[in-house]
Amino acid sequence: MNQDQLKQLVGRAAVDYVTSGEVVGVGTGSTVDCFIDALAAAIAEGRLTVAGAVSSSERSTQRLQKHGIRVLDAAEVTGLTVYIDGADEIDGQGHMVKGGGAALTREKIVADLADRFVCIADASKLVQTLGKFPLPVEIIPMAAAQLTRRFATLGGTATLRAGVVTDNGGHILDVTGLSITDPAAFEAEVNQWPGVVTVGVFARNKAQVCLLGGADGVQTLTF
Ligand code: A5P
Repeated sequence: MNQDQLKQLVGRAAVDYVTSGEVVGVGTGSTVDCFIDALAAAIAEGRLTVAGAVSSSERSTQRLQKHGIRVLDAAEVTGLTVYIDGADEIDGQGHMVKGGGAALTREKIVADLADRFVCIADASKLVQTLGKFPLPVEIIPMAAAQLTRRFATLGGTATLRAGVVTDNGGHILDVTGLSITDPAAFEAEVNQWPGVVTVGVFARNKAQVCLLGGADGVQTLTF
């Protein structure tokens, strides 16, 4: 199976984690696109109903609406049973690096509304230690130079993602050279730096379940 087929496989598997009749939290990315398509197919076939979705990006909103799925504002819900999203990296405890698609801030907000984060990923995303994938950090533009210096003190090299403005009007730094051995402490520290909107380490909002697509099908990891 190629990577696209693995994404479709885990996208379909994630539909089983949606409770019929409820509002579902929806992440962003190519794997989530597969989930949205599978969700729409399940609804069309009468296997499931949803009261709507809270979306983490304009990209996912457009795809959901194209399928006729109602998109609710985050402020309209007090909580979600489940949030389904991909990851750029996930470790053996459910900590993730996210933000390759620049949607990390809204992803963290919607994830925070949910009782359970179900991560969908192909097996290449599973790592021992976070940090090989360049860490996305959404920032206030005027802080870029100072934050670049701060990351250098941690051994990281930050590069501004050229031409990218997030759904919130922020910029993205991608930081290479990090080895994130204590994701919770790292997230808490970087979150305090002035000018950081969101750091792409998801430790406080880590996954409780990961549906990992590999040669042998879908492996379910629970944390
Ligand atoms: C979007 O900002 C990211 O957090 C995505 O969830 C992550 O990049 C995974 O994307 P793919 O499913 O496209 O690999």
